[in-house]
Amino acid sequence: MDYRRIGGTDLDVSVLCFGPMRSAARDGNDNETSKAGARALEAALDAGVNFLHSSYEYGTRWMMTDVLRDHPKRNDIHHVIKLPVPDWDDDGKFNETKFRQRVEDALSELATDRIAVLQWMWRARPNDDEHRLPVLANIMDDVNAAFEKLRDEGKAGYMMTLPYTVPAARASLDTGKLSGFVSFLNPIEMELVEFFPEMEKNNQGFLCIRPLFQGILTDRHQSWDEVPEDHYLQRVKKEDPHAFDKRAAIRATFADEIANENGGSFARFSQRFPLYSPLVASMVTGLNTEAQVKDAVEALDGIKPRPDLFQKAYDLWKADFKIT
Ligand SMILES: NC(=O)c1ccc[n+]([C@@H]2O[C@H](COP(=O)([O-])OP(=O)(O)OC[C@H]3O[C@@H](n4cnc5c(N)ncnc54)[C@H](OP(=O)(O)O)[C@@H]3O)[C@@H](O)[C@H]2O)c1
Repeated sequence: MDYRRIGGTDLDVSVLCFGPMRSAARDGNDNETSKAGARALEAALDAGVNFLHSSYEYGTRWMMTDVLRDHPKRNDIHHVIKLPVPDWDDDGKFNETKFRQRVEDALSELATDRIAVLQWMWRARPNDDEHRLPVLANIMDDVNAAFEKLRDEGKAGYMMTLPYTVPAARASLDTGKLSGFVSFLNPIEMELVEFFPEMEKNNQGFLCIRPLFQGILTDRHQSWDEVPEDHYLQRVKKEDPHAFDKRAAIRATFADEIANENGGSFARFSQRFPLYSPLVASMVTGLNTEAQVKDAVEALDGIKPRPDLFQKAYDLWKADFKIT
């Protein structure tokens, strides 16, 4: 396993970060999904993964608690947690008690003393720039003060954000209070790459979420027709009915120039692409089985930044693709 330092921090994290969103039953049922997820988490830790993502929203932390409670590597793990305050229906008001409680809950559920990265987010309903951008200016000082208290108590390391949109990303960086972004990045979602040169210059960090575009960028299903009715991708279909079309378009765009770099496998390319940027320290990847962990570990063996290839992919995306 390779490790990279998150820009602007003292955190050396594995390039693979365990994403548990679908790694266990949400109701605490220790069924086959949950057992497979627990084995996947164990396998990831055995393979040297020292970075775990989690959220109270996924309802899967109970499985992580079971694995981590007495795990010998428990104290070597860095955690990144999702921390949405204010949430959808909080009317743009920041609540320090809620912010702190989410962190305290995570400390207890993850059997740890410190959360390395708070993936702070602010939400509104509707969650668009018109409603969100004015909120940021009103709350940022209070959010930062709440974070600094936790940091000074040794309970939190750094605060980054998932900005959702490009204007919100701009506004977030302009606050000067965040260590970087934890956000979507894959061959279909490169919107935040325009900030990379500035972030590198300012010694900030980027953690990638969903490198496989929720599994669409693998070769598992070729079209919506192949996705079973009860599969979670059916929910993705409602949100993004063009997901497979996007995959086809980006594959065609990248075919000759990029995919051959990875033995012609677009899935392999997707598993590696974010880490070709030196700014990206780790990829939060949904890992639900030991086989998926093994495959991801193999794909990332010896991975090194390849800024030229990353730039080439970004240039192609900008020129030919950029479907919003
Ligand atoms: N707003 C947020 O903060 C936010 C939003 C989304 C996600 N996340 C985090 O990011 C993590 C990853 O997101 P994601 O799961 O949506 O996207 P992803 O990492 O792009 O896709 C993961 C999915 O791809 C499939 N997969 C994984 N490895 C594979 C392999 N080797 N071969 C074939 N298929 C493979 C798995 O699906 P199957 O098991 O179904 O086959 C898995 O659920 C989540 O677990 C969560 O921790 C955060």
